[in-house]
Amino acid sequence: MDIKIVKTTTPKEHPESSALGFGKFFTDHMFVMDYSREKGWYDARIVPFGNVELHPASTVLHYGSEIFEGLKAYRRADGTVQMFRPIENIRRMNRSAERLCLPQIDEDVAMEILKTFVAFEQDWTPSAPGTSLYLRPFMFGNDETLGVHAVHNARFMIIASPVGSYYKEGINPVKIMIEADDVRAVRGGTGYAKCGGNYAASNRAGERAEQQGYSQVLWLDGVERKYIEEVGAMNVMFKINGEIITPALTGSILPGITRMSCIEVLKKEGYNVSERLLSIDELEKAMEDGTLEEAWGCGTAAVVSPIGELRYKDKIFTVNNGEIGEVTQHLYDTLTGIQWGKIEDSFGWTCPLK
Ligand code: PLP
Ligand code: COI
Repeated sequence: MDIKIVKTTTPKEHPESSALGFGKFFTDHMFVMDYSREKGWYDARIVPFGNVELHPASTVLHYGSEIFEGLKAYRRADGTVQMFRPIENIRRMNRSAERLCLPQIDEDVAMEILKTFVAFEQDWTPSAPGTSLYLRPFMFGNDETLGVHAVHNARFMIIASPVGSYYKEGINPVKIMIEADDVRAVRGGTGYAKCGGNYAASNRAGERAEQQGYSQVLWLDGVERKYIEEVGAMNVMFKINGEIITPALTGSILPGITRMSCIEVLKKEGYNVSERLLSIDELEKAMEDGTLEEAWGCGTAAVVSPIGELRYKDKIFTVNNGEIGEVTQHLYDTLTGIQWGKIEDSFGWTCPLK
């Protein structure tokens, strides 16, 4: 595929790795490609990073036609850069696009774009421990009319951000608030799609949790408010009485690639892993009788993040004495080991640039 390249004339300074945090700095370039029903995808280009100009009636600004992905490029000790399971992000993006009536991108084309763009910006991949280049592909509807319908015009872009840890706690346990009122998604809705609207609807509860000192919200299902779903930006796993439980993919939670990877690692190593419904009652009982051994969240940005405290209504439970558990640590070490190329990738998950 033909990708036009316009190089920046004003390259930026790279930030110190200690200043990175999450999503605060952006690389020098971005990828842009446009779509219309008549032409299909056209005008693929890498251009200097900058603002996007939109018609004030653009669909995305009114009706929220937007999807995104999140994946990372990692610098190995030998200096080369690799991605982690990018094909899974591409497939999920197409599933999200289908739900939001946005156009599909051929998997091979999307992979070529991603590799070309990351190779072009690879100098921005930081090398300090725990740092990476976060890649944010996104697509939005861009019709210049106020009619409500599946879009005829769209834009696909990729921006990249050198990042450190997502939570200020790093790998230290985070405090999570179980949300009893607001819900994030329902079956038949957009919960399984990575679309901006899901996050917009989450912010009110997130804000309330934050004001009380909690990092994120753990959602219950949208119908009965009974079953555990996922955290704001990660899937969730619990170890109860030796069984590792993660909510089944019922349509209202995001099928996380880190979740899938954790399950595959654990199953390969003979752990007892269940993807099933887990009710708040069962979890509460396990917290009360001490059978909840570990809890952690998993996601690209958050990696594997231990949960040290859970609050549900006025009850506060400490998990594993507020310390990182054995399985959590093991998953963190295994996934980050594969991602940074420190341990052998027996799964074939890593993807070098060329
Ligand atoms: N759930 C939500 C709501 C998320 O935003 C994320 C992050 O992408 C995840 C789960 C984890 O998904 P993944 O592991 O593919 O990053
Ligand atoms: C990711 O983990 O890649 C995410 O997209 C989470 C995010 C909403 C910050």
